[in-house]
Amino acid sequence: MEYLDFAVELARAGGDVLKHYLSREKSVELKGRANLVTIADKESESVIIDRIRKRYPHHAILAEESGASGPTDAVEGKWIIDPLDGTTNFAHQYPFFSVSIGFEQAGDVLCGAVFDPWRDEMFSAARGLGSFMNSTHIQVSDIEALRSALIMTGFPYGFRDKLRQVMAYFEAFLIESQAVRRGGSAALDLCYAAMGRVDGFWEVDLLPWDTAAGMVILEEAGGRLTNFSGRKFSVYDRQMVASNGRVHEEMLRVLGAAEK
Ligand code: IPD
Ligand code: CA
Ligand code: CA
Repeated sequence: MEYLDFAVELARAGGDVLKHYLSREKSVELKGRANLVTIADKESESVIIDRIRKRYPHHAILAEESGASGPTDAVEGKWIIDPLDGTTNFAHQYPFFSVSIGFEQAGDVLCGAVFDPWRDEMFSAARGLGSFMNSTHIQVSDIEALRSALIMTGFPYGFRDKLRQVMAYFEAFLIESQAVRRGGSAALDLCYAAMGRVDGFWEVDLLPWDTAAGMVILEEAGGRLTNFSGRKFSVYDRQMVASNGRVHEEMLRVLGAAEK
């Protein structure tokens, strides 16, 4: 599929920029109390956007650092870009970060790629074509019960304003699951669920560039994505519950019971 191949190409181009800067001195700026941006975020994004502009000048773009650009009435498609998902990890040289590229048409994400340049793992999927890690077909785990499940989560930058609620969910999953991990790259967390390295994921406040590619990769791997009410997840939803499908209802019950 043409758009999928291009998403993979873009994710790799962004990943090359991240590799270049990883062990080099990089200026780190603050976008908020704990929200960082580095030269690598900006350069990865501009390399990706330049390529899209050249190849598909009629497509719209939604990118984390530069926002919305391109034609506003574009019906042909929209590229949703996180040029570096896991900036805090990256800034500390903690090797868990990615580039995420999703392609949306009429509200539906058709395909996406998430690249982990550290491990050279390219996750990709297109609707109806399955999910892949490099050239290997991937699928969600077959864990049936939450008590046997490894669950991931993330904390949004604004968690200080909703600390009680965030910690209530966290405490509930610590008790009910086998273990909880906090990765630091939501896009990669979704890919880990897609290949069965973990069994579920939740987060209270995500943005389209965190989720666009990961959602199609997880769904095509047999996973399920909803908001906390159990409604099918849309890329513009902020709350996400993602799983292998089998532990999903239990996850929704845990979240419901921990609601403040
Ligand atoms: C963040 C990461 C993190 C998640 C945050 C995101 P960024 O993205 O995905 O895991 O918990 O909510 O904002 O800022 O590193 O691109
Ligand atoms: Ca992100
Ligand atoms: Ca980012």
